[in-house]
Amino acid sequence: MTNTYDTLKKEQPTFYFIGVTTKQSSIMKVFPLWMKDIGREDVVIEGWDCKIHDEPENYRKAVAQIKYDPLSLGALVTTHKIDLLTACRDMFDYLDPYAEITNEISSISKRDGRLEGHAKDPITSGLSLDAIISENYFGETGAEVLSFGAGGSAIATLLHLANKPNKGDRPDVFTFVNRSQGRLDHAREMIAQLDTDIQVNYVQNADPAVNDELMAKLPPKSIVINATGMGKDTPGSPITWDGVFPQDGIAWEFNYRGELDFLHQALAQEESRNLTVEDGWLYFIHGWTQVIAQVLHFDLTPELLETLSQSASTVRGVPVG
Ligand SMILES: NC(=O)c1ccc[n+]([C@@H]2O[C@H](COP(=O)([O-])OP(=O)(O)OC[C@H]3O[C@@H](n4cnc5c(N)ncnc54)[C@H](OP(=O)(O)O)[C@@H]3O)[C@@H](O)[C@H]2O)c1
Repeated sequence: MTNTYDTLKKEQPTFYFIGVTTKQSSIMKVFPLWMKDIGREDVVIEGWDCKIHDEPENYRKAVAQIKYDPLSLGALVTTHKIDLLTACRDMFDYLDPYAEITNEISSISKRDGRLEGHAKDPITSGLSLDAIISENYFGETGAEVLSFGAGGSAIATLLHLANKPNKGDRPDVFTFVNRSQGRLDHAREMIAQLDTDIQVNYVQNADPAVNDELMAKLPPKSIVINATGMGKDTPGSPITWDGVFPQDGIAWEFNYRGELDFLHQALAQEESRNLTVEDGWLYFIHGWTQVIAQVLHFDLTPELLETLSQSASTVRGVPVG
């Protein structure tokens, strides 16, 4: 394929962050610390902002920059994971199986001159969930999963669970609740391709009172996820302050910054319902480290992950920009 784009010739190895408001992300503070940790201080991070549902040409320009400039090493993609792949599929030499099934990518990297795309979310949300629950959790508890939101990260969590080889690591029931029917239809289509024994329910709803009712019906120890972006991307929470979390359950907010109303609602019941309350910090760490390791080709050992987590925690909550 010939390059028809005006790609820049970078003078320093560059890792791109393709998002919407990239300058505001904590990664801008964390990345230089991590490069020091892995001995690659020569690598810099650069934000590449695109509008939500941007013109296909703009996604192609970003991908061409990485494909054709030797020192543009790769990228982590947020928000545009589906739109970018739709616009640029022909530019990739390889897509991993999760990218093929989800039709989205969160990682762009190069290996032996080939441009590769990976959908890392099922791996990274999975690593985060595995750190929250123990082995055979569902077998021992009969817990269900209720996910508010049926977007990329919620589907990734279901994919991770569906791929668990042991029955006890898969819930009997996983329920998606989503505002728009379109996302639910998309999730249903994708999940129909899987050979899974998880009963997946699809509920179209945006009324927090109805979400309270769904939550009240869950068996003890169930997991309730806020994957709507409410409390960070948009104000509010998918549930009301009267919503009751499952006894001995787990409340998992996918974000770690913002108003985090859902997280606060859960924290208010931490003692009374014996809840485990998690935010999205670990998800952030796994999400970024997996992609950086893919792009820079290093082995992410548990020891190195621990070092990187420690470094990141030193700037957690420090304002960016
Ligand atoms: N910590 C981390 O590193 C990390 C990693 C991944 C994701 N996240 C966060 O998790 C959130 C979700 O990410 P994503 O990639 O899955 O986003 P996404 O694809 O945009 O999905 C969000 C979904 O939530 C739905 N929704 C919004 N408000 C709702 C409501 N009141 N009730 C029910 N459904 C509602 C949206 O439905 P519509 O179709 O109606 O818009 C959409 O399908 C984002 O805020 C993201 O920042 C954090």
